[in-house]
Amino acid sequence: MAKPKTRKSLQVFDEELRQFHMQGQWGVEELLVRSIGGPRPKGKPFLWKWETVYSKLLEACEVLPESFTARRSLLFANPGLPGHGSTHTLLMGIQMIKPGEVAWAHRHTMAAIRFVIQGDGKAYTAVDGEICPMENNDLILTPQWTWHDHHNPTDKGTLWLDALDVPLIIGLNVPFYEPYPGNQVQVLREKPGDYLQRRTAAARPTWEAAKKESFPLCYRWKDIEPQLRALAERPGSPYDGVSLEYVNPMTGGPTLPTLSCWIQLLKPGERTRRHRHTSSAMYFVVRGQGATTVEETSLEWGERDSFVIPNWAWHEHKNRSKIEEAILFSINDIPVMNAFGLYREEPENSLHTTNAPQVPAPSQVNG
Ligand SMILES: [Fe+2]
Ligand SMILES: [Fe+2]
Repeated sequence: MAKPKTRKSLQVFDEELRQFHMQGQWGVEELLVRSIGGPRPKGKPFLWKWETVYSKLLEACEVLPESFTARRSLLFANPGLPGHGSTHTLLMGIQMIKPGEVAWAHRHTMAAIRFVIQGDGKAYTAVDGEICPMENNDLILTPQWTWHDHHNPTDKGTLWLDALDVPLIIGLNVPFYEPYPGNQVQVLREKPGDYLQRRTAAARPTWEAAKKESFPLCYRWKDIEPQLRALAERPGSPYDGVSLEYVNPMTGGPTLPTLSCWIQLLKPGERTRRHRHTSSAMYFVVRGQGATTVEETSLEWGERDSFVIPNWAWHEHKNRSKIEEAILFSINDIPVMNAFGLYREEPENSLHTTNAPQVPAPSQVNG
């Protein structure tokens, strides 16, 4: 009589599979089950005080007295994402160049934006040969794979906010980097007629095909602020106040394919409603004082502070002043979420998640 075969245990079988570089899906099922109700926020809410950032930047000027290739930039490292970024897709920091300094040109597949904190319009970033003057609160784009160098011919330090899609590009394993030939500054386009950003205005040469991406665009504060003010009396969004997105003027789409920039105004005493969304964001306080509550953490902010809202974290903003408005500049990864149909937003006390796939009614199933 044949001896009954003893059944192999699941543990032994799992071990055998590992030797063949395979894995049963039952082992990762737990991950899926944990996603019921949505993801957990990636990273922690955190605030970087301007006084600390600025004093460390001044120290960096001594520690790194001059560098033509590396940038003197202090990056915001999320304490919940060691070695990763400010959020799981974005990296933000503050950069400073001293009077007379130049940062040589390079290009990379990471897209970047600069929001000027201290500039008198004489310091500039050159993007693909075009001069973009740096004046307070101007936004300058260096889209992916555009040459860029920074120049400070003035007698004052120039500071700006840098934000890039570094964690996303590293995660996709598509980082490319190239220094400018000879490690130099770019050859500039001499004639204004050669400037690409002019092609985004109301008219462009008839002999050129429309170019929709990778423009070295500059959004001047003197143009943006009146737009914000013009809308200041409107109710705005219950979650973000009066908020504007910097759009690509050729497509009407987001600022850049991988990240979007917003400017928002909170009226005196305004408190927004609580919500959460699958996008993450980094904020910089242009003006005002207030608090942003993220999950259980209250981030008390003042002028020039920076803070992070991880994705899928409940949050609300409050302008603490009863007489002054607050203005916040922010960067988010909404374009990435939208590109893949992954953007979801949920207001508090609601069973509905906007943009979520609709659950078919029972009659539609098997219909
Ligand atoms: Fe760069
Ligand atoms: Fe939000």
